[in-house]
Amino acid sequence: MCGIVAYIGNKKSSHILINGLQRLEYRGYDSAGLAFISEDSKLQVFKNQGKVKDLDRLIDHKKINSHIGIAHTRWATHGVPNNTNAHPHYDNSKNIALVHNGIIENYTVLRTKLIEKGYTFESQTDTEVLAVLIGAIYEQTKDLESAVRNALIQVEGTFGIAVVSSYEPDKIITARRGSPMVLGIGENEFILASDASAIIQHTRQVIYLDDNEMAIITKNHYFTKTIYNVDTNSEIQEILYNLDQIEKGGFDYFMLKEIHEQPISFENTFRGRLLVDEGNVKLGGLRNIEDKLRNAEKIIITACGTSWNAALVAEYLIENLARIPVEVEYASEFRYRNPVINQNDIVFAISQSGETADTLAAIKEAKQKGALCCGIVNAVGSSIARETEAGIYIHAGPEIGVASTKAFTSQLCAFTLLSLYLGRMRNLSSTEGMNIAKAITQIPSQIEEILQNSEQIKKIAVKYSKSKNYIYLGRGYNYPVALEGALKLKEISYIHAEGYPSAEMKHGPIALIDENMPVVFIATRDEIYDKVKSNIQEVLARKGKIIAIANYGDTELAELTDDIIYIPKTLPMLTPVLSVIPLQLLAYYTALELGRDVDRPRNLAKSVTVE
Ligand code: M6R
Repeated sequence: MCGIVAYIGNKKSSHILINGLQRLEYRGYDSAGLAFISEDSKLQVFKNQGKVKDLDRLIDHKKINSHIGIAHTRWATHGVPNNTNAHPHYDNSKNIALVHNGIIENYTVLRTKLIEKGYTFESQTDTEVLAVLIGAIYEQTKDLESAVRNALIQVEGTFGIAVVSSYEPDKIITARRGSPMVLGIGENEFILASDASAIIQHTRQVIYLDDNEMAIITKNHYFTKTIYNVDTNSEIQEILYNLDQIEKGGFDYFMLKEIHEQPISFENTFRGRLLVDEGNVKLGGLRNIEDKLRNAEKIIITACGTSWNAALVAEYLIENLARIPVEVEYASEFRYRNPVINQNDIVFAISQSGETADTLAAIKEAKQKGALCCGIVNAVGSSIARETEAGIYIHAGPEIGVASTKAFTSQLCAFTLLSLYLGRMRNLSSTEGMNIAKAITQIPSQIEEILQNSEQIKKIAVKYSKSKNYIYLGRGYNYPVALEGALKLKEISYIHAEGYPSAEMKHGPIALIDENMPVVFIATRDEIYDKVKSNIQEVLARKGKIIAIANYGDTELAELTDDIIYIPKTLPMLTPVLSVIPLQLLAYYTALELGRDVDRPRNLAKSVTVE
């Protein structure tokens, strides 16, 4: 949530910062701002409500001669999106400016104390409290580093910050707790950002700051320490993806590009891991905990949003193939309900970004209770990847579109691999393993086949785009896909949509059905196909409009439904990977038809780093 970028070096900073903000805009886009230290050591702040392009228009780049600056794109938590609440925020002397991601939980207490001492505030944000506190401490210490450190010690909550000041004009100070900060190390320059996508065009060498770590950066030098003033020795790592992976590459939107990347991203998840001839799987990231996995008595999977939907599929997969009981928990609920975790239970946290605050908090809670925590994560080096003891990277490549697509199918791939691996440790035969492995290898070309049908899906999307509500129904492995289809539509088109297990419809939602209600059925051929067909009849009897996702050759269903989208046949356990593709496209084309900003849907941000 929110994006931070900062630059110090020999180049003019204004274009670098705007460019960095544009790359981070998927993290928040309700307002944006910059603070520069000019060549005569003055601090200047520009900020306004709106998108980064609006901020860019506000700045006369020719007039700004600065080689140090910090910048921010905001997703509002405290205070409405407006010019005053936009970052950066000043201290009272207006000599210190700060940008911040996260939430200062004790900001009212700190604010009251500061007001009692005579300090004033312009905004409604929690962030300004931290800026004013740093300024107040600086008045005593006359040292920026110790002022930042002492202020952070008083803060409860989460932060990723960058600070500049005309008092010490050749320095940027950054720190993090619960909100990512990455320091890019270039030649005589440093680029700091809340994620590596704003850094990669300058350098691939980065340091991922740890919680409660800060970095003090000048043009030619940096050092790190904890906010408790203990030196640290952070390892320099390399960014593993390329610039073209974070560009649109000819597509109108990142979401469409990412939908079309799925044949490759899915393959990247199983590449080098699937042992087709042995009907087994090699998972290097779990090698160290093999014995614990063999003895696991229960698996708890925790996640949010789309990753949670993937977890539901995983529950079916793991219980089916490995016969280990699985519980799926919303990460946001997990730590508030005192979950029962036994010694031989294993917790898996799933996250595309690896930075979701609720999921991180759930991991911490599980660890506190003594559980072994594993991650299934896309972003390499992210907080969840580092917080967990073992795991599987899904290798889907950077996902920029706010609506998650390729991460979902890669998460499903990773879970199929995990289930196969756990199953083969137990009772699953090599013949069954081989069948599943072969079916996995066919998925990329099957996704390709569905994508070629985009024009038909577009026409269906346009036909129903004026609908006010949608219902999505599926059973078994396809029930979580119904949830995911509904989530995609809600997120980017703002049409109200509900996902249900098909058979649950008659217990309530059926009351909503009339001739204006499109009902999307995932009705692929499996052992519950006939039951789903009966549910379709129930909707028909109430004049609902039926859009079916069915297997090629299902002419019987074609006669019953208003619109039918065919997908290739695979094993039931792999069907979600195929059945979700038309639903992603349906949501995309509906949003497009309604003129929505597909990659930047209102009120959302790509990675939700506040609880
Ligand atoms: O990065 P994560 O997978 O942890 O994110 C979890 C959710 O915030 C995320 O899936 C969200 O629901 C997406 N916008 C869904 O498209």
